[in-house]
Amino acid sequence: MELRFTQEQEMMQQMVRDFAKTEIEPFVERMERGEFPREILKKMGELGLMGTTAPESLGGSEMDFTSYIIAINELSKVSAVVGVILSVHTSVGTNPILYFGNDAQKNKYVPKLAGGEYLGAFCLTEPSAGSDAGSLKSRAVKDGNNYILNGAKVFITNGGEADVYIVFASTNPELGSRGISAFIVEKGTPGLIIGKDEHKMGLHGSRTVQLTFENMVVPAENLLGAEGEGFKIAMSNLDVGRIGIAAQALGIAEAALEAATNYAKERIQFGKPIVANQGVAFKLADMGTAVEAARLLVYRAANLRTQGLPCGKEASMAKLFASKTAVDVAIEAVQIFGGYGYTEDYPVERYFRDAKVTEIYEGTSEIQRLVISKQLFS
Ligand code: CAA
Repeated sequence: MELRFTQEQEMMQQMVRDFAKTEIEPFVERMERGEFPREILKKMGELGLMGTTAPESLGGSEMDFTSYIIAINELSKVSAVVGVILSVHTSVGTNPILYFGNDAQKNKYVPKLAGGEYLGAFCLTEPSAGSDAGSLKSRAVKDGNNYILNGAKVFITNGGEADVYIVFASTNPELGSRGISAFIVEKGTPGLIIGKDEHKMGLHGSRTVQLTFENMVVPAENLLGAEGEGFKIAMSNLDVGRIGIAAQALGIAEAALEAATNYAKERIQFGKPIVANQGVAFKLADMGTAVEAARLLVYRAANLRTQGLPCGKEASMAKLFASKTAVDVAIEAVQIFGGYGYTEDYPVERYFRDAKVTEIYEGTSEIQRLVISKQLFS
């Protein structure tokens, strides 16, 4: 079993690492104050990072899936905000069109999304349909050559900034999840109302908004796939998207481990570095072991996907474990930093605040357990 990156993947890792250090690190404070990293995304588009896996014929970089995961992992070590923006834009903003769109839809939207001219968003969650996504209430009614959409969405990552929204609404409520359809909705569509900006515990530079559809008119040509195929489109893209969030969590955990290790070697108490105490050294040993295990799960799932093999269970396992690792390691990092760790002068409090949501979005840890257990016992 080969556990090394290819030469091409190593080059990707180094390129993104350098970019994150020189371009993103100086921007982190601005994001912490709530600024959306538009100018960073523009530069990422120029580097081909906004369409890593899309084919060259559609404006993408046509790299393998593992390279995409490497990019999210490396970006998230410096900024989990940039990590989640890229993950949502690609896995659930662009890929539904790439995999389920017809030629006209692919040619119209993918080059702009893959090139970074457009940003993508994914609109599934509703006020009363979170984990139970199949119970969504948004309604789409066919009217001649259009669909008229009414409903409300919450917690929409990239909302308000995105140019293209993948929107899920029911075209036949009697059929439950089999009646859900997916639509491509462009920014500025009359009736698409951008609502409240959520003030979140972490991920401050990432925008998360409520959306309302008030008699929003969507051309029938923007129906993605067939009527009733929406839930399958959502679920199959989430299957893969979860590897991206797992890679984001891994990046946070790696950053927290590195910060805590460096601090423990430098901080002198009782005349010696605190790492000389087994209480601290063993904590770091456990943190390092968990990070290594998370890394193996993330890249195992990514490798399966790269080979075109089923990876739903492994993606959920990677997300479940990497997100818990990110939270645990970030909490311990704050502890190792002591009082300093509780201040904004050091990054570990940010790692902790950013880590928590990885156990919640793209399916809570409880939903990951549900997906894993269903597949283990089927
Ligand atoms: N791929 C393809 N099809 C799938 C599928 C998958 N992974 N999972 C289910 N389906 C299909 C089933 O085959 C079934 O089809 P049929 O009716 O034709 O047989 C249909 O979908 C319904 O399946 P279930 O009965 O299993 O569905 P369910 O209603 O019990 O829900 C669930 C399953 C796993 C709990 C699902 O609702 C789920 O994943 N919930 C979590 C929602 C979620 O992850 N939201 C994330 C929002 S996006 C986000 O967070 C982005 C961000 O901001 C970072």
